[in-house]
Amino acid sequence: MIRTTTIMVVALVFLASIMAASASSEPYLIHPLRLKTRLGSYGASLQGINCASWRLGVEAHNIIDWKTVPKECEGYIGNYMLGFQYRQDSKAVAREAYLYARKLNLTGDGKDVWVFDIDETTLSNLPHYARHGFGVEPYNATSFNKWVEEKKAPALPESKKLYGKLQKLGIKIVFLTGRPESQRNATAYNLRLAGFRSWEKLILKDGSYGGKTAVEYKSAERKKVEESGYRIVGNIGDQWSDLLGTNTGKRTFKLPDPLYYIS
Ligand SMILES: *[C@@H]1O[C@H](CO)[C@@H](O)[C@H](O)[C@H]1NC(C)=O
Ligand SMILES: *[C@@H]1O[C@H](CO)[C@@H](O)[C@H](O)[C@H]1NC(C)=O
Ligand SMILES: *[C@@H]1O[C@H](CO)[C@@H](O)[C@H](O)[C@H]1NC(C)=O
Repeated sequence: MIRTTTIMVVALVFLASIMAASASSEPYLIHPLRLKTRLGSYGASLQGINCASWRLGVEAHNIIDWKTVPKECEGYIGNYMLGFQYRQDSKAVAREAYLYARKLNLTGDGKDVWVFDIDETTLSNLPHYARHGFGVEPYNATSFNKWVEEKKAPALPESKKLYGKLQKLGIKIVFLTGRPESQRNATAYNLRLAGFRSWEKLILKDGSYGGKTAVEYKSAERKKVEESGYRIVGNIGDQWSDLLGTNTGKRTFKLPDPLYYIS
């Protein structure tokens, strides 16, 4: 019995090594398309598309105005957020941002700024979302605000590195967040605790923007920043509403966020 198993294992290893060798010697072999997607790796199927395609649609802004993550995709999105890929995707964005920033002709007059959004750009609310179905549960302002007041959101590591490198280049930081003015203290405290120790401006949403979209609010605030003499050389956010509208900056960078959509 043991012998048979051993032989089978040896045979399988041998077979696998032959297959690997033949695959590597035929680098141009094109495999026929498989009609069935592997649901195990790419998440459950929802109305004909899998969760990886849903996420790509969200990032590319083809899927817009969605209210919650489809419940079939909770497992897929949870794995994405907690696993290796979210970090890697964020790193790719931060890297491009830095490569761009390094080539800028900065005047050194202290007027070059980079706009950072806060939630899911600078600070991560993943500990909160992990307890609430990774975006499957509808947004609950009461429980989210409670989480904000705890001031325990960790830094997003790749964004934090970018923040440091931009400052070394002489670029100043403007935080522009949809968090309300009433959360200024908690937000400033949390930013410092997470290692974001200095900034040129910290802009929160005041009451005058009641009923306005994020695009309207953020455009208006960026306009004020530019009218006061700053140049927005870069702008990074996890929502398209951070990057659309007017006065968007010389270049924009979109971080991944499949948890929620803000228009
Ligand atoms: C930066 O300035 C140099 C010298 O004035 C110029 O040759 C170069 O094209 C500029 N680069 C950019 C990206 O504007
Ligand atoms: C929202 O969260 C609060 C506080 O955690 C909770 O008491 C309330 O039931 C929640 N509302 C809904 C609609 O789930
Ligand atoms: C924020 O903190 C300052 C000083 O620590 C305090 O005077 C102020 O009342 C606080 N504001 C809010 C809204 O908690």
